[in-house]
Amino acid sequence: MSAIQLAYTSKKIGDGTKKLGELKEGDSLNIVYPLGNQYSIPNNANTLLVGGGCGVAPLLYLAKHLKEAGNKVTTLLGVRSEKDAVELDAYKEYGDILVTTEDGSFGEKGYPTQHSILEKEKFDYVFTCGPEPMMKAVAAYSAQKNIPCEVSLENNMACGFGACLCCVTETTGGNKCTCTEGPVFNINDLKW
Ligand code: FES
Repeated sequence: MSAIQLAYTSKKIGDGTKKLGELKEGDSLNIVYPLGNQYSIPNNANTLLVGGGCGVAPLLYLAKHLKEAGNKVTTLLGVRSEKDAVELDAYKEYGDILVTTEDGSFGEKGYPTQHSILEKEKFDYVFTCGPEPMMKAVAAYSAQKNIPCEVSLENNMACGFGACLCCVTETTGGNKCTCTEGPVFNINDLKW
């Protein structure tokens, strides 16, 4: 057993996440890590991060690494309502933060792919994480603009080691385990 510093973001929606929310600094937790691959980290590029739902959390760590590699970071978060727009101050440490809300209570009304920044600014790389319909829309935007795009799939995972095959996704190179060969894929490798 080793001691690590762990930072995480979770929303209380069940027993497991409730218990996670009750953890205090110094408590012990059994975890299996690291699993799978990671996003690419370019240098000195204009990067766009698009997150929604659970995808709001992992992009924060990516924003940190992108900024440290000299990239300009713009994060665009899509949420239902203002109360769901979390971690905005944390994102601001690494670049610009923009929000769309479905009810129009904060930021621009609509979905992330409807935000005005997408037509105003030219990005070099796009990274996205969140619900599959949102990621597919982001992938379509990136393909249309000819911008490299990576998505982090949220397939259900059980074992995390490539044994149970419950997380398989179809790619141009055949079926791949999202847990060991993902979760990050270039959109050109997916059969979307
Ligand atoms: S989670 Fe079991 S094979 Fe991927």
